[in-house]
Amino acid sequence: MSSEFKRTLVTAALPYANGPVHIGHLAGCYLPADIYVRYLRSIGHDVKFVCGSDEHGVPITIKAKKEHTTPQAVVDKYHQMMGDAFNEFGISFDIYSRTSSKTHHNTAADFFTTLYNKNGFTEEITQQYYDENAKQFLADRYITGTCPKCANPNAYGDQCEKCGTSLSPTELIEPKSALSGSKPVLKETKNWFLPLDKLQPKIKAYLEQHSDWKSNVYGQCKSWLDSGDGLQPRAMTRDLDWGVPVPLKGAEGKVLYVWFDAPIGYISATKDLLPERWEDYWKSKESRLIHFIGKDNIVFHCIIFPAMLMEHGDFILPDNVPANEFLNLEGDKISTSRNWAVWLHEYLIDFKNQQDVLRYTLCANAPETKDNDFTWKDFQTRNNSELVAIFGNFVNRTLVLTQKYYNGKVPVASSYTKEDLLVLEELTAAPQKISAAIEQFKFREALSEWMQVARSGNKYLAENEPWKLIATNEERVKTIMNVALQITCNLAILAEPFLPFASQKLFALLNVQPLKWLSAKNSNNLPDGHQINQPELLFAKIEDEQIQFQIDRLQKSKLENELNKPLKEIKAETSFDDFSKMDIRTATILQAEAVPKTDKLLKLLLDTGVDQRTVVSGIAAYYKPEDIIGQKVCLLANLAPRKIKGIESKGMILMAENAKGELCFVSPTNLNFDNGAMVK
Ligand code: 2FM
Ligand code: ZN
Repeated sequence: MSSEFKRTLVTAALPYANGPVHIGHLAGCYLPADIYVRYLRSIGHDVKFVCGSDEHGVPITIKAKKEHTTPQAVVDKYHQMMGDAFNEFGISFDIYSRTSSKTHHNTAADFFTTLYNKNGFTEEITQQYYDENAKQFLADRYITGTCPKCANPNAYGDQCEKCGTSLSPTELIEPKSALSGSKPVLKETKNWFLPLDKLQPKIKAYLEQHSDWKSNVYGQCKSWLDSGDGLQPRAMTRDLDWGVPVPLKGAEGKVLYVWFDAPIGYISATKDLLPERWEDYWKSKESRLIHFIGKDNIVFHCIIFPAMLMEHGDFILPDNVPANEFLNLEGDKISTSRNWAVWLHEYLIDFKNQQDVLRYTLCANAPETKDNDFTWKDFQTRNNSELVAIFGNFVNRTLVLTQKYYNGKVPVASSYTKEDLLVLEELTAAPQKISAAIEQFKFREALSEWMQVARSGNKYLAENEPWKLIATNEERVKTIMNVALQITCNLAILAEPFLPFASQKLFALLNVQPLKWLSAKNSNNLPDGHQINQPELLFAKIEDEQIQFQIDRLQKSKLENELNKPLKEIKAETSFDDFSKMDIRTATILQAEAVPKTDKLLKLLLDTGVDQRTVVSGIAAYYKPEDIIGQKVCLLANLAPRKIKGIESKGMILMAENAKGELCFVSPTNLNFDNGAMVK
């Protein structure tokens, strides 16, 4: 640990208080932050760990509207729930605060005023959509309309979720207010902008001092700075009624932009934690500020918040922002709205007192440099083959044999063999290796180094077989068991940041007060004759049925989701003239065969009554070629021919598509209708 700094403030992204916590949150930000902080505490460094709920922003107002309640009621509910979940998983915040608190409102307002008084903002009058019925300006998410790129009729004012294009509300075709359904009008409004364009050189210089940051983080920042016209001014106020009111005359009905106030939440939380000493952590060059976040928050923590802090002038800047990438679940993006997630509160019911198993799996698989996948099978394997079979097995054998041979008293090691000394050397070198990895934010590597210690212990016992040797060489067994007990004790010390529950339990079984990191450099933490307690298992095997239950539950939610998918809205109006241009005819399929090297396409020969022609159709998932010979269909006969997989396709067969995306033929009900009958 660099001695340059006297103290460290670690923050973890303030989660939006509009839903429960899932494994993606834990893996992306809270678990690595917690491991880091626990480690710093263990080495005796002065560290504080702050977090809290982010309770402002438009999504919270939308959720409140949907649930016919108030934003305050929404955040009250989730603030409690999220705080409890973090606590249950041992995320050891020194404070879990919230941005609706008085301290925060005052702190954020003061921060804004300071910047304002230093001419840190530009005032800009822009045209914004206004709902005349609801008598309010509309946040981008409150405006829907047709996407100019893909014609999706349900695009939002900031983004089309169908084609992924970022939009501004004025780009939407036929915009509608989500509040009243009426057509919004453009109205002038004044807002205060942070002139990031002017600040770009300072921000660039700051970032360049940190080229040692994780490559995923540094790379993203560089591309923001280098892309197109570089940084652009960004509005730091919004016309909205939920948030921190803008502390200026004439700014009634406006609040601070949620991304302006949220990071100030770290300062407010520190103030609540240490009313007298908070400035030591924020304003001293001897202090270090580290933000743990997920990758979607990088720009806010590496560019916008540092710019705010620089302009304010009193504060230190973030020293590191070790952002993680995303965790997927069983190959799919975690999604709250699709219920494709493992919720912490549900996990706690299904895997009671097994928080460390999840912590272990999420750390071993952490999305540190790229997106990663959580699967229930891997979770089971990590538990059964690593925690149970290696760590648990080693500890249990050691404790059981100590009870059996010595009534639980640590035996005296009389003389060490070369091999014993090697094992002990490896043991006392471990803390340094693990420290080095943690200090570089390589938590997976650190955990694997820790497991390596357990693996060596397990191997040591298996090779020495004290259970056999006891019959012939009691003295030797005493030394072996002493070594095994010292390894066990050091494993408890080094496990603490990763597996705090198991570590605590193991210290209790060893009947010692929890020891600090530096003690793991010794190999004599358990004195001769020390009495240990009766053994208990640290981890239990997870059965196939438990895993299947979880997989089934996810599949069920996927299915329910598909069934509940709303039917697509009616497309934008078309004219009768346009419709009349389409020549739709009845036809019969004469031949059908799969198109080689594709799994979706069938090549069909059709009798249209007028001609015979080839049509390539994407229906192979729904129909076998042999089952559709003779099938009557409707055909868009005058569609311009297209080459598909090298085959000229003339026309398109009409299909009906349900909400699940399944297809079936649209066909005349009277089968006596000749081919070529017009569909009108
Ligand atoms: O992405 C999020 O969940 C944000 N609420 C994170 C805010 S971090 C900080 F700025 F408070
Ligand atoms: Zn689109």
